[in-house]
Amino acid sequence: MDRPSALQRIKKLRKLIAYHNERYYQLDDPEISDAEYDRLMTELMELEQMWGEESGESTDSPTRTVGAEPLKKFETYPHITPMLSLSNALSERDILEFVRRVSSQLEPEKPTYVLEPKIDGVAVNLMYEEGVFTRGLTRGDGLIGENISRNLKTISSIPMTLPGPPAASDSNIVEVRGEVFLHIEDFKLLNRKKASEGKPLFANPRNAAAGSIRQLDSRVSAERPLAINCYAVSGIDGPGFESQWEILQRLREWGFPVNPLIRRVETVDECVAFFRELEATRKEIPYEIDGMVIKIDSLAQQRRLGALSRSPRWAIAAKFAPAQATTVIESIDIQVGRTGVLTPVARMKPVSLGGVTISHATLHNMAEIEKKDILVGDTVLIQRAGDVIPQVVKSISSKRTGNERPFSMPERCPSCGSPVYKNEGEAAHRCINMTCPAQTLERIVHFVSRGAMDIDGIGEKLVRRLLEAELARGPADLYYLTFEDLLGLERMAEKSARNIISAIENSKRPPLSKFIYALGIRHVGEDTAAILADYVDDINELAVLPRERLCEVRGIGPVVAENVTEFFAETSNRETIDRLLAAGVRPQKEQRTAASSLAGTTFVFTGALNRVTRNDAKKMVESLGASASSAVSKSTDYVIVGKDPGSKFQKAQELGIPTLNEDEFLAMITGENE
Ligand code: IVH
Repeated sequence: MDRPSALQRIKKLRKLIAYHNERYYQLDDPEISDAEYDRLMTELMELEQMWGEESGESTDSPTRTVGAEPLKKFETYPHITPMLSLSNALSERDILEFVRRVSSQLEPEKPTYVLEPKIDGVAVNLMYEEGVFTRGLTRGDGLIGENISRNLKTISSIPMTLPGPPAASDSNIVEVRGEVFLHIEDFKLLNRKKASEGKPLFANPRNAAAGSIRQLDSRVSAERPLAINCYAVSGIDGPGFESQWEILQRLREWGFPVNPLIRRVETVDECVAFFRELEATRKEIPYEIDGMVIKIDSLAQQRRLGALSRSPRWAIAAKFAPAQATTVIESIDIQVGRTGVLTPVARMKPVSLGGVTISHATLHNMAEIEKKDILVGDTVLIQRAGDVIPQVVKSISSKRTGNERPFSMPERCPSCGSPVYKNEGEAAHRCINMTCPAQTLERIVHFVSRGAMDIDGIGEKLVRRLLEAELARGPADLYYLTFEDLLGLERMAEKSARNIISAIENSKRPPLSKFIYALGIRHVGEDTAAILADYVDDINELAVLPRERLCEVRGIGPVVAENVTEFFAETSNRETIDRLLAAGVRPQKEQRTAASSLAGTTFVFTGALNRVTRNDAKKMVESLGASASSAVSKSTDYVIVGKDPGSKFQKAQELGIPTLNEDEFLAMITGENE
């Protein structure tokens, strides 16, 4: 192949694959088989490799990105069979009690037990209709889950078809249940990457898996190496299996990953022995398990035992005792967080706990320190909460030597030196100085983060440099940075400076919800910000809403209301917002409706409009995610023709572009808005 035809083929393949990505990830309606898709992808990769730079290696080539545009929110669907939870056995005694209870109820039959490691991940329900994967849901409330099909499709170990007919099932729908999780090594890699980008870390592999599987943008899930283990099958009329063991074997035959450590045993002693064995070897397992599930093997016996509203009587989750150790608190330091909270952190003599070295743990607040009776110098019992986050359980007072000293909160912020406050009824001590450097860094990092203003290319490192160079003291300053300001920073290349300036420029029209979230108001996370954005038309309206009105908003409680009003009562915060608006930041009110079908389309107006102004018409179009352009071209979708149209009308007719009069246009637009 010569160069021009290679380049042409590359271009064509990229377009083709983008199209199939959309069919697969966005429309859930692929046109070609996975094998065909893989062939296209391989061909493209080979060509790109061969022609390297010359192929104009674009970063948006489908060989470098996965999936399609993000969703706005998940749809929900009911599970066919409810997804129950498990009751817990917190000690070996509870295991014995469970076995005693089920055995006596099943008398004279003797039950067999299936033992499975309990992976600490996220439960999912995979639905197959006529043997084809049609939908994957989160557990949700057990009855209704969220449609996370696009994300599940990025897990390559999930079979997209079941071989042969859904064996032994009377119905054509089969639900396969399993646990999605991240291997510990992959979790560490992910957090390392997040740290280098200055983004907040995941507390543990479970949270990371949950965060990844619930991504609205499936391209993000695709980058996370999620794994799955399956452990249950059900169908509308029951799949006709006789035992849990048989289900696990069949799942394996069908190509589902099934945990290799499963066992079938006859006696309670074997249950306890395997529980101990798992607990002793859990550190060698490359993913987090938090216990062992004991299930009655026979499905007939399971049916006889039945279920409570939340959990079956035929299974129990035997949880491992949290890993604990003792060490000495050498000092208690103070960390100042984004919202100004002063958090006492125990610095401890390093100690190994569940395979990791622990040297510090948050003590949360003064009340907690008093409750746990902790002195500096104390020997303390520590554990890993959720088996990951280190936690001080209590002090061991019998080990005191008399050299321990009580701790007290500082009167001045260790970061900026201004006075520390504590509200009546609240546990936290706070620094309320908006320009406190400890907060500024965090505030700006939060402000630019994904989910907030999403300014690409600005991470913690750059924010630090801006603060050091005194180019920024708060989020609003970003919008007043000049190209020269940035070039003045050490090791700043012209190209990077230009990219940063344009990323800032491009962030000027954020959805209102993201803008509100970006402000970093206490207790206002992404969901609450979305509720607030839905309620008001713009930020100025929110700023003057009285507390009582806020309390009336569904989903907003008194605490959020209090914090929102407090936030806007603070003059420096109002100034920050005014400066953002003055710099041209224009938060956009989002549509209540789901994604508009006009999103991404282009309109051109010609001639005079009667019922609305040209400007309002443009705004209406933009509010639906479409755009208004001034010239007609092949990529124009609709030309709106008013009175005395110009040459654009003619051009539209030549190109065969649909034309609408004003009434038709308004009908279409308002129909979209309903
Ligand atoms: S069986 C009715 N088996 O634990 C049976 N669950 O606490 C319900 N889990 O929501 C689940 N490994 O997320 C089952 N081998 C296993 C499991 C398992 C992990 C999770 C699952 C479930 C939770 C219940």
